[in-house]
Amino acid sequence: MTDTSLAPVEVEPHLSGRFGKPYLYEPECTSTQQLLLGSGLPEGAVAATDHQTSGRGRLGRVWEAPPGSAVLISILLRPPPDRRLPELSLVAALAVAETVEAAVQLAAQVKWPNDVMLNRRKVAGVLSELSDGTVVVGIGINVNQTRDELPLDAPTEPGSLRTATGTTLDRAVLLASLLSRLERMYGTWRAEGLDGIYGGLGARDFLRGRRITADGEQGTAVQILRDGRLEIETDAGDVKALESGEVLFER
Ligand code: BTN
Repeated sequence: MTDTSLAPVEVEPHLSGRFGKPYLYEPECTSTQQLLLGSGLPEGAVAATDHQTSGRGRLGRVWEAPPGSAVLISILLRPPPDRRLPELSLVAALAVAETVEAAVQLAAQVKWPNDVMLNRRKVAGVLSELSDGTVVVGIGINVNQTRDELPLDAPTEPGSLRTATGTTLDRAVLLASLLSRLERMYGTWRAEGLDGIYGGLGARDFLRGRRITADGEQGTAVQILRDGRLEIETDAGDVKALESGEVLFER
């Protein structure tokens, strides 16, 4: 498989829904988040690039990928004001997990709050940023990186679809598939809340039953709850529901 770029000529012929209209593309940019934040564009607008020079991860981290190796996009959404924002990251992560599964025919999981795992490695991350009632959801999927092109110092061991399968994928086709799944899942969530997608999410709950460390405490992850929080049981015997943050797991 010869990979293409994420240029409109490669992606737009595969788009079937409202997401990706308009489709903004830069061969290189600082961060696709920057292209949409404060832009006033309609819901469903997408910014994509083949290379970010200052890609942003959660918790102030950087997000890096060699040029032409990853799916790097942001999408502008206007969710109902009464919905909890962390739920939207789970919606996006689940759409990514299902897209990855369909592409590589392997089971993918959602690691709360917003990572996508394949073979116990992180292959994608979601970053949701709010500005003036608009949410810009950034998604990075490691697609065609070789093992030595992945970050060395990531808190969760990274992988790519290529390292998991040994084959390269057409990123434009993958992106179009993601946008169509995300549009459908977002619509369900808008109408029904997290309950509407909880079956798919619960079935792909990576942390469930794993030994974890969260907020400096050790324990066991119980499950992602129906309101999007993570239920954990600490070794001291406390049952807690986490709102956000980072969970480290034992491999
Ligand atoms: C994380 O796991 O820390 C979230 C990573 C999000 C990365 C994506 S890549 C496209 C978009 N632009 C950015 O600068 N970040 C997000």
